[in-house]
Amino acid sequence: MERTFCIIWFLYVSVCESLLFPDSKPVMHGEVLSPEYPQPYPPNLQKRWDLSVPNGYQIRLAFSHMDIEASAGCYYDSLTVLYNEKVLAKFCGQENSADGHHPGNQPILSPGNRLTLLFQTDSNNPEKHQNVGFSAQYQAIDIDECSAPEPRDGSDSLCAQICLNTLGSYICSCHHGYELRSDQRTCALSCTGGIFDEPQGHLSSPGYPNSPPHALSCQYVISVDSGFTVTLNFSDNFHVESVDTQQGPNCLYHWLQVTVPHREPIKLCGAKSPGVIETNSNTVRLDYHTDDEGLSNGWSLDYSTQRVNCPPPSKVAQGRVTPMLAEYFYRDYIFVRCDQGYKLMMDGHEIKSFSAMCQNNGQWHLPLPECHIIDCGEPEPLLNGGLTFLSGFQNQYRSVFQYHCNEPFYSLLGGVNVSFTCEADRKWRSHNDVVVSPTCLPVCGKPIKHVSGIQRIIGGSDAPDNTIPWQVMLNVNQNRGGGMVIADRWVMTAAHNLIDKNSKVATEAIQIYMGHNNVDTILQTPLYAASVHTHPGYNNPNNVDYNNDIALIKLQDPVTFNASIMPICLPPEGAAYETGIMGLVSGFGITKLGEQRFALTNKLKYVLVPLVAEEECAKSAVSWKQESANIPDLTNNMFCAGMREGTKDSCQGDSRGPYALYDHQRYWAAGIVSWGVGCGKKGAYGVYTRVANYLDWINKTMQEN
Ligand SMILES: *[C@@H]1O[C@H](CO)[C@@H](O)[C@H](O)[C@H]1NC(C)=O
Ligand SMILES: *[C@@H]1O[C@H](CO)[C@@H](O)[C@H](O)[C@H]1NC(C)=O
Ligand SMILES: *[C@@H]1O[C@H](CO)[C@@H](O)[C@H](O)[C@H]1NC(C)=O
Ligand SMILES: *[C@@H]1O[C@H](CO)[C@@H](O)[C@H](O)[C@H]1NC(C)=O
Repeated sequence: MERTFCIIWFLYVSVCESLLFPDSKPVMHGEVLSPEYPQPYPPNLQKRWDLSVPNGYQIRLAFSHMDIEASAGCYYDSLTVLYNEKVLAKFCGQENSADGHHPGNQPILSPGNRLTLLFQTDSNNPEKHQNVGFSAQYQAIDIDECSAPEPRDGSDSLCAQICLNTLGSYICSCHHGYELRSDQRTCALSCTGGIFDEPQGHLSSPGYPNSPPHALSCQYVISVDSGFTVTLNFSDNFHVESVDTQQGPNCLYHWLQVTVPHREPIKLCGAKSPGVIETNSNTVRLDYHTDDEGLSNGWSLDYSTQRVNCPPPSKVAQGRVTPMLAEYFYRDYIFVRCDQGYKLMMDGHEIKSFSAMCQNNGQWHLPLPECHIIDCGEPEPLLNGGLTFLSGFQNQYRSVFQYHCNEPFYSLLGGVNVSFTCEADRKWRSHNDVVVSPTCLPVCGKPIKHVSGIQRIIGGSDAPDNTIPWQVMLNVNQNRGGGMVIADRWVMTAAHNLIDKNSKVATEAIQIYMGHNNVDTILQTPLYAASVHTHPGYNNPNNVDYNNDIALIKLQDPVTFNASIMPICLPPEGAAYETGIMGLVSGFGITKLGEQRFALTNKLKYVLVPLVAEEECAKSAVSWKQESANIPDLTNNMFCAGMREGTKDSCQGDSRGPYALYDHQRYWAAGIVSWGVGCGKKGAYGVYTRVANYLDWINKTMQEN
């Protein structure tokens, strides 16, 4: 009864305690004393202590003193230690007593976290025996679960591989290459192989070449730099269970699946090695799966990587691709150069240089360019000329052309034919590599048609078209004058045509006509003066001093020469004015025979008059002076021309035009009609400005304006 009570009490206390102190710390140590210790214990006792410590701990019980009546087999009084109602030990007696069973210094270790002490005494306690009982201390000791021996009954050990003791508990762990299963006890071969990112490597199924454990789900990823492709090389020793189905062997329960991005995965099984698999990808995933049954011995493979290949570039017409290699790989470069005379073109545009890299996708990063023939562009046009292609076309490389001038009105400076070739630097170059810009010079004094021989027709003749193409008609303040073309912008005339009442006429007052023999026609195309240059030595206020009667008019626009407009040559250096030579005098102002007054004609007239010797002319001048005081002086800057006989045609110098001499197949401007006396009288000549005396002035004036 008492025992029952004790248990109830104990439970009561523990319940009460847990109610009162719900967070109280678990009991880790304590003391057990026999009743009334250190006084002798009473008889007829049956006392029980149920000790407990938290799970995962053992109880270590040590006796500091024991004095229980000794008896054989502890028959009368005893302290029994129980675990799970199994007796661990039964003590009585004192240290050194012959009878009884004393624990000595040896502590008792409970197999678990509980321990029961049962103290029993009998009724006949002899007075002489004053046994005091016992005192014992206990404490919680962490169980080293891991050191527990292998269970004999064949049941599973605590941990399949590694046991790690912890305070009050333990955890299981696995050897390298294994991982803990979800039961927290057993280990499975680890086959999440991580990522293989080396350029080459070796993989095999868990446990290879031994057959692996069942129910595997392994994943291996090979992932190398893009621009490389992975090749798998399975060893011959390959075995993954396959199931024969009606459709043939099938990887139904076990398989090794090879997955490459953007492609159908391949499932491998059977006993034949797949050998070499070129994945053409830089990442490959391998999934190895087995179920609980069946048998697969596994597999192993070496993988290697190759740089991605780009297709060999095609040929480029008129160009060269470098370097020429048998194969082109990722990060290889190619360059394209065009042959001489060709240029790189891409998308319709010229490019300076071309290079392309083999990309990680096996494509060149740019398409190949084309080589197009270069061209030198339109050659500079040649004023008053043109050009002819001797070879080639469209101004392309190696084309050759030659300039020419518009003959017979212009001729090439120097008269040399220079051909120009389109060179690789896209410039037109002449053979001697000197880039000369040719010039077309006007041809002077060479009309395409000539007036007929010496004119005996009094009053002159109508000039046929294009026979005196240098002839100019001036209109100055409504007075008609004459002149001659000497350059494309220059007209030479007499100063007296341009001085009115002692002052130079305004440029606006001058109209200039040329290109026709008919006045009505010629008047339709007036040209205008840009500037007027009378000789500074001309000073003739009273019409008695015609010295230096020469002037130049600069045209506003240059004239293009043709058959009806051509310049007359200037006097050659050291020009000879030979007596008797016939000069061509022309103009729109020749009088008609028999008329007493000057009449302007509607047609260009000409007459050929001989040059008169200087003495002859001077003699005449003296006789003129005798007749009239107003006769101008004859100077060295003048010469006379006319018929000595004094026929009326001899003074037709008032044609107001040029006096041209023909020499070396060309006409040159020997004189300008200046003045004359006693027309029709014997010994009366026309007086002309001696142009040869003014070459320097002409040259200077033309150059400075
Ligand atoms: C695959 O491996 C075998 C054995 O190591 C070797 O002889 C063979 O050359 C390899 N094949 C390739 C393509 O790497
Ligand atoms: C220049 O070339 C033209 C045309 O090719 C030819 O007619 C002419 O004779 C050549 N002149 C000279 C001086 O070579
Ligand atoms: C020459 O050119 C002038 C001016 O352009 C023109 O009036 C004339 O008709 C041309 N003559 C010939 C023969 O072409
Ligand atoms: C005109 O000047 C040029 C250059 O100064 C010279 O070459 C030429 O000989 C001169 N002509 C005459 C006729 O003086």
